[in-house]
Amino acid sequence: MSNILILYSTTDGHTLTICKRIENYLNQKSKVSLIPLTECTKKDLDNSNTIIIGASIRYGKHNPKVKEFIDNNLEILNDKHNAFFTVNVVARKSTKNTPQTNPYLIKFLNSIFWKPDIVDVFAGRLDYPSLNFWDRQIIRLIMYITKGPTDLKKTYEFTDWKRVEEFALKIFNLIK
Ligand SMILES: Cc1cc2nc3c(=O)[nH]c(=O)nc-3n(C[C@H](O)[C@H](O)[C@H](O)COP(=O)(O)O)c2cc1C
Repeated sequence: MSNILILYSTTDGHTLTICKRIENYLNQKSKVSLIPLTECTKKDLDNSNTIIIGASIRYGKHNPKVKEFIDNNLEILNDKHNAFFTVNVVARKSTKNTPQTNPYLIKFLNSIFWKPDIVDVFAGRLDYPSLNFWDRQIIRLIMYITKGPTDLKKTYEFTDWKRVEEFALKIFNLIK
């Protein structure tokens, strides 16, 4: 049986929700552990034979700890089956929702030496009411400029859950 480790980096919890969906899919045939990336230990890494990392974008960047973790554990990552995905709202646009077209993913992968076996990008979620005043104004302005939704009373989920399941299926096929 495979031991799959899913590591997540999230600010508002949506990347964790996506990871849970992947976990639900994969735990039918594997043992899956879901851990915040910043709490992952060497033992967690050693105990797994597949590592998946998911991280969201905030103001153009992943949490710097994601790159730091990847740089520090490059050899271990390369030793296992592995996958990476990013979450951002730009990916709601059909022209920016693939690994070849999402600017954050392209830039991030160019900044690291790790070449994950499987890579993907998922559109995220915008929960205007939960944001603080300034974040709400800035994000709304960005959404306005990029022709996205701007109703501050609403929450918008752009995630294509079928796409998330397809990602999980690719991992399933990789390790079976
Ligand atoms: C303060 C803030 C800044 C964000 N900056 C960006 C950004 O620069 N580009 C983008 O595509 N999405 C951006 N987003 C959208 C997030 O990536 C999206 O909400 C995602 O679902 C967040 O995932 P998380 O809850 O796991 O952190 C931002 C969201 C917030 C709240």
